Amino acid sequence: MLVLGIETSCDETGLAVYDSGRGLLAHALHSQVAMHAAYGGVVPELASRDHIRRVVPLAERVLAEAGCTLAQLDGIAYTQGPGLAGALLVGASVANALGFALDVPALGVHHLEGHLLSPLLGEPKPAFPFVALLVSGGHSQLYAVRGVGDYALLGDTLDDAAGEAFDKTAKLLGLPYPGGPALAKLAESGRAGAVSLPRPMVDSGDLNMSFSGLKTAVLTLVRRAPRSAQLDADIAREFEAAVVDVLVTKALAALDATDLRRLVVAGGVGANRTLRARLSAAVRERGGQVFYPDLQFCTDNGAMIALVGALRLHAGAPANYAFTILPRWELATLAAPEAAVVP
Ligand code: KG4
Ligand code: ZN
Repeated sequence: MLVLGIETSCDETGLAVYDSGRGLLAHALHSQVAMHAAYGGVVPELASRDHIRRVVPLAERVLAEAGCTLAQLDGIAYTQGPGLAGALLVGASVANALGFALDVPALGVHHLEGHLLSPLLGEPKPAFPFVALLVSGGHSQLYAVRGVGDYALLGDTLDDAAGEAFDKTAKLLGLPYPGGPALAKLAESGRAGAVSLPRPMVDSGDLNMSFSGLKTAVLTLVRRAPRSAQLDADIAREFEAAVVDVLVTKALAALDATDLRRLVVAGGVGANRTLRARLSAAVRERGGQVFYPDLQFCTDNGAMIALVGALRLHAGAPANYAFTILPRWELATLAAPEAAVVP
């Protein structure tokens, strides 16, 4: 099954060609980060317009790189939600128009299912069942994943997502958008324990999280002392340590609660090196294993959407090309496909 994947849910236009037998054949990404940086965050209308400009040339590029033609495609997969409505509409329109023209199915994919299954793009591939820690700009969630389409929500953030907390804290420290990677870089020159921040909800006894209080605590630190480059770096280091402590504690508790040994970490914050090092050590110590997507597939990309398309299109897809987008869409409401061929 040869699938073209289209991701346009936010500020990245991602295209990819995935084949069930041969794996990922080509992928390409255009990031709008530079365009939105001047505004300190994503401007939805600009995002949609840029997706329109990029999506067709990128599709042509990945098809050429994969050495295949439109006529060879068995289906098109696109991000149907959650995400920015205008941005989602671009991918959905192009995918359904292409599907109609080629007489192949166009399948709407859940963006978070893409993130969850993205470690299947690399080696070693995690076997089901596993616990997934999904940490992105919009989500901080723990799931028990028992198969394709079988996602039980174990825990969630009560307020800000982990990535959102990174971005907002970075802004408080005067770092450029997107804040997560910039804050992680600054943390490298910070001193451990020079300042102190809380570890929200580590003792809550459940698998929920909360990150908005941390941001407020950072604001208090920033206002209290005269600013210096060293203080900013110390705050960045302690903030990163606090988020990582919470995520590690909750992920281990989720493994205990489900009696599972495999942990998958997905979403943009999964690119954080401190988080990766701490999680790997902690899970290995208890005889388990952590799986990460390749760094390039941690953040938004078309490859994960093409992959989910290839997994789910085996079960068929509606072929009427009447589409809706789902800007708000709970992952746990997904159903398992009747037949999924897992790579
Ligand atoms: O998954 P993603 O690309 O987009 C969403 O679906 O949200 O995640 C983006 C988020 C942003 O909040 C960004 O700041 C964060 O991931 N992020 C990081 C790092 N790289 C990206 N946060 C911490 N450390 C990083 N190295
Ligand atoms: Zn994402």
